[in-house]
Amino acid sequence: MKELYDYIFRRKSTRVFTGEPMTDQELEEIEGFLKRARHLFPEQHFRYRITREVRKLLPLKAPYYLLIYGDDSDESMMNIGFIFQQLDLFLSSIGIGACWLGTAKPGEEKDQSPEYRIAIGFGKTAYPPYRDPEGFKRKPLDEISNGWDERIEAARLAPSAVNGQPWFFESVQGELRIYRKKLSPLEKLVSGRWVPVDLGIALAHLYIAAEYQGREFVFVRESEKPMLKGLEYVGTVQ
Ligand SMILES: Cc1cc2nc3c(=O)[nH]c(=O)nc-3n(C[C@H](O)[C@H](O)[C@H](O)COP(=O)(O)O)c2cc1C
Repeated sequence: MKELYDYIFRRKSTRVFTGEPMTDQELEEIEGFLKRARHLFPEQHFRYRITREVRKLLPLKAPYYLLIYGDDSDESMMNIGFIFQQLDLFLSSIGIGACWLGTAKPGEEKDQSPEYRIAIGFGKTAYPPYRDPEGFKRKPLDEISNGWDERIEAARLAPSAVNGQPWFFESVQGELRIYRKKLSPLEKLVSGRWVPVDLGIALAHLYIAAEYQGREFVFVRESEKPMLKGLEYVGTVQ
């Protein structure tokens, strides 16, 4: 996956598409990639399908939608974020635009299920779906981390629902402890349900950064949870 590292620093959400169809080969590449993607919690089940029909609650018309299904536990949602952020970067690497869509709802009856969780809109774009590093709107490093670890910058640039960036990275003796921000009631209402997906997305960036640096990516959850004010411990990347 280290070949995706550069796209962490270039990707952006795409919300305008040309509507040009993708070839069967391109769609097969996506499916092939998803077979290779790493899982965060392999015991969590999920499924997906690619469709062109979605009732959209935002003015975002994508030519293709990837609908993702699974249960709504935190682990399942983190796993979904982790796997499909690898896909977001893969799509970027082949010049296809994409956007996570928390607000999309499947319109076709056959796509609806209590297990429906989230969609990703994707397709061809008129301009390459990239930006310069200065184009990222993100919290500064000292607001989301303490200490120094090369991998944090990759996680800092991760996309999140309403760009909430609900994470904190504590660097302790070569390990990274991941925390989630305790949200205000309003934040909970707006984006609370997406926080586990956001965390999975940030972990995907940490995984790819680790591979790029030739390190193993090992994610563990300490039984004795470390505490930091205003934060909730999620896990540790060793
Ligand atoms: C879980 C999740 C849900 C999202 N839902 C929507 C959405 O419904 N509509 C939308 O336009 N963008 C959505 N986004 C995209 C974010 O707004 C975007 O990633 C964030 O503002 C950062 O911008 P960037 O992706 O261009 O770096 C979502 C992103 C995530 C991670």
